[in-house]
Amino acid sequence: MLIEQVQASDCYFLRESILRPGQPKENWTFAADHDPRTTHLAIKQNEEIIGIVSLLPEKNEAVSQHPWRLRGMAVKHELRGRGVGKLLLVALLAKVNEGVWCTARKNVQDFYLKNGFEIFGDEFVMNDMPHVTMKTI
Ligand SMILES: CC(C)(COP(=O)(O)OP(=O)(O)OC[C@H]1O[C@@H](n2cnc3c(N)ncnc32)[C@H](O)[C@@H]1OP(=O)(O)O)[C@@H](O)C(=O)NCCC(=O)NCCS
Repeated sequence: MLIEQVQASDCYFLRESILRPGQPKENWTFAADHDPRTTHLAIKQNEEIIGIVSLLPEKNEAVSQHPWRLRGMAVKHELRGRGVGKLLLVALLAKVNEGVWCTARKNVQDFYLKNGFEIFGDEFVMNDMPHVTMKTI
């Protein structure tokens, strides 16, 4: 398995099918997708993208030391639990020296907690799912 820097459009299939199934394109494309500072990483297996994550420049006034936002983290269902997500996350965090924040579905918060993030702020509901906001420690 190989981690590669890819284009935003290479991430669309897994973003839509895993994170926003049945939703319109504006829900699985991001304003900074084509910003030159943005990084999109993918892991491929036999030429097929099986995991993705993106890092976008986006400030959050609650965490001024964390100018980067992680979004669109997804691994194909049948390949989860094998370290693919962790590989992507570690590779992405190594791209920047500053802090990173994200919103995380509560059911996967432990994935981020195990990989250098902590929760800040209150829990909230988005797309009918409980979420937390997290930042690198
Ligand atoms: C979250 C996701 C990206 C994790 O990818 P993955 O390849 O399965 O994760 P890994 O195998 O690299 O797991 C790394 C560690 O996190 C833990 N972990 C992974 N998913 C977890 C979950 N849902 N709940 C609790 N712990 C989890 C693993 O047990 C592992 O722990 P270890 O290091 O102690 O062994 C993947 O489950 C996914 O795509 N989920 C659906 C989409 C989604 O919810 N994306 C995040 C939106 S915020």
